[in-house]
Amino acid sequence: MKFHAVYVVVGIIACPFIFFCIFAPSQLLQVQVIELANGFKYIEKSNFSNEWKQTIHKYLTFPLDNHYGSHTIVLLAAAYASETGAILELGMGSSSTPLLHRLAVDQNRFLLSADSDIRWVNYFVSGLEKTELHQMKYVEVKTEMGVEWAAANLSDAAKWSIVFIDHRPGGRRQFDLRAYALRSTLVLLHDTEVASMYQYTNALPLYTYRYRFTRLKTYTDVLSRTNETLVKRIRFLLESIPDSYFHTNKTLT
Ligand SMILES: *[C@@H]1O[C@H](CO)[C@@H](O)[C@H](O)[C@H]1NC(C)=O
Ligand SMILES: *[C@@H]1O[C@H](CO)[C@@H](O)[C@H](O)[C@H]1NC(C)=O
Ligand SMILES: *[C@@H]1O[C@H](CO)[C@@H](O)[C@H](O)[C@H]1NC(C)=O
Ligand SMILES: *[C@@H]1O[C@H](CO)[C@@H](O)[C@H](O)[C@H]1NC(C)=O
Repeated sequence: MKFHAVYVVVGIIACPFIFFCIFAPSQLLQVQVIELANGFKYIEKSNFSNEWKQTIHKYLTFPLDNHYGSHTIVLLAAAYASETGAILELGMGSSSTPLLHRLAVDQNRFLLSADSDIRWVNYFVSGLEKTELHQMKYVEVKTEMGVEWAAANLSDAAKWSIVFIDHRPGGRRQFDLRAYALRSTLVLLHDTEVASMYQYTNALPLYTYRYRFTRLKTYTDVLSRTNETLVKRIRFLLESIPDSYFHTNKTLT
């Protein structure tokens, strides 16, 4: 009996030490240690839900890019929160298009991606798995202000759940920002820290509910005319993410 008690005591004393040695070196695991150490409290404090955390790990790679890919976490939060409905991507790119493609397939949502650069369109037409859920369209733009976007018939396709505005020429964006206010539930607008350059300022007040995501540059706005709950939910999801996910100099594995 005595012998057993000694083993138990030694075991209990050694446990935290072994745990520390295994987990301390990694940044991600440090986050987990904090969670375990503070138990339920930590999780409740930040409300970073396990499902949302798993979704981030499923779709994104780390560290979260703080340059051209800064909008991907916002796209993911918007898709996760809204769950259904058609998505329109104005302006394709190596971080947004493959992510939206996966989300369209997984959530069974229609996705239309459009770009004024035929190379992007061709790249993804040949690179992504064909599915009726994802259509891609080339919009030939010859004018400086990109008026061709207005004639491209994109807005007839559906009442959009999410419209992602990130297209060229930049001068065109303010007009589509206006146009989609009434034809969408959510608009995600990229590059809002240079709002004056794109002349967003006049169109933004058309949206009753706005949230600017500034944890990464460049900034991305979440906008809606009608659904305050949805904007709040997306904000909550984005703000619940621990700081360590955004540090580009730390490696999460
Ligand atoms: C976290 O969630 C709990 C339960 O859902 C809620 O009571 C609490 O107010 C939330 N905390 C924050 C900081 O939002
Ligand atoms: C807002 O969006 C959520 C999620 O898509 C939906 O359940 C809710 O009914 C919407 N509310 C309004 C007022 O449209
Ligand atoms: C847009 O649709 C209209 C009528 O549906 C058609 O006449 C026009 O050619 C279309 N424009 C483009 C650029 O496809
Ligand atoms: C890593 O990034 C954080 C926040 O961005 C910064 O405070 C810290 O000094 C950086 N560390 C190194 C070693 O660059």
